[in-house]
Amino acid sequence: MDKTYLVTGGAGFIGANFVKYMLREHSRIRIVVLDALTYAGNLGTILPDLDGSRCQFVKGDICDAELVEGLFREHDFSCVVNFAAESHVDRSIENPQLFLKTNILGTQNLLDAAKKHWTTGKDAKGYPLWKPNVRFHQVSTDEVYGSLGATGYFTETTPLAPRSPYSASKTSADLIVIAYAETYKAPVTVTRCSNNYGPYHFPEKLIPLIIKNILEGKKLPVYGDGSNVRDWLYVEDHCKAIDLVLQNGHNGEIYNVGGHNEKQNIEIVKLTIATIYRLLKENPAYRNVLKKKELLASGEIDIDWINDSLITFVTDRLGHDLRYAIDPAKITAELGWTPETDFETGIVKTIEWYLNNQAWVDDVTSGDYVNYYNQMYANR
Ligand code: NAD
Ligand code: DAU
Repeated sequence: MDKTYLVTGGAGFIGANFVKYMLREHSRIRIVVLDALTYAGNLGTILPDLDGSRCQFVKGDICDAELVEGLFREHDFSCVVNFAAESHVDRSIENPQLFLKTNILGTQNLLDAAKKHWTTGKDAKGYPLWKPNVRFHQVSTDEVYGSLGATGYFTETTPLAPRSPYSASKTSADLIVIAYAETYKAPVTVTRCSNNYGPYHFPEKLIPLIIKNILEGKKLPVYGDGSNVRDWLYVEDHCKAIDLVLQNGHNGEIYNVGGHNEKQNIEIVKLTIATIYRLLKENPAYRNVLKKKELLASGEIDIDWINDSLITFVTDRLGHDLRYAIDPAKITAELGWTPETDFETGIVKTIEWYLNNQAWVDDVTSGDYVNYYNQMYANR
């Protein structure tokens, strides 16, 4: 093997997609996944990838200095890709402190271990001397830029203006990463991506939650009037962008990643309803995954209840950012990255994945999910 990567948060949505992507695309890369398996992490997601040689799993917290140091001693990492985070804005509004601890202190702990194990001394001015060909990559978000009005795009020079505890914690993590680059000359890169969608997305986030609720015949909660805009990117396109940055990106650089695919939430919800209806109409075998059996008429299974009347407008998210939109010109010009999956294709692939993988959904929602759902949506 040529290189060993430490991938934190590799049992979560994007991290797991990244692990699968890297193992498929690179035959000479080894991966050690470090994940605390919080409610959002699921070992089953990457179990098929754990072959004992190219991919190995360690359960643990990125804030645990002893554990992280031990991993650096045991493996000759050439790269850390930090996906591990508390990632859900709504949860950050309920419990900000956990977000600050994991997202900020966890990142700083990983950086400290990298600094200890990847430096070989100091130069004449006192700056650490770093081993060649090592890299710390921080997976960040477009939410660090705050909220846009009706026009304009986030570029890498847009001022940082986070507005939720989640985005404030991610911004702080970015600033710590950049501070290590300035103060210790740490070899770092940062990607700031827009909203991802695709397989293995935990059903607390909009798209998988809507799919799950439709299949259960439940109401579809749309915050406020549904006019908030997100810029959606198929998860594999994000993985490809990170891979390109790891290979050809320059130390100290930040790259925005986004698909030029802005949609209002209400459009997303209506498109998801229409697509599920069409897929179930065209392929009646899919109707077996419907969970709300009492909604089904006897004999031929009726699906006409799958329509926009399922939508319910609920109390808005506190401090709800109006619009995100990424300008990915830098990563396109410098690294040749462009999104490959258009939204119409990606949303069908995603919905089909959920229709074919209900056991995964049942598995990840078998724990505390019901309590979470009832609490989060009780007063909306
Ligand atoms: P996720 O919530 O699905 O997964 C997070 C993973 O991190 C889980 O497996 C969880 O168990 C693990 N984790 C949490 N705390 C940990 C800790 N203390 N130590 C070790 N592991 C821990 O999140 P995601 O949507 O896959 O996001 C991954 C990263 O990408 C995050 O840093 C997020 O901020 C960033 N991001 C997400 C999106 C998006 O649309 N989902 C967009 C841009 C950036
Ligand atoms: O922009 C990147 C960010 O995208 C990532 O950094 C975050 O980790 C990720 O969770 C995501 O944040 P959002 O808050 O944009 O995603 P979420 O899926 O929670 O919500 C998308 C939009 O849908 C948002 O405007 C809120 C709205 N929404 C969400 C839920 C869960 C609803 O209207 N109803 C809902 O039930």
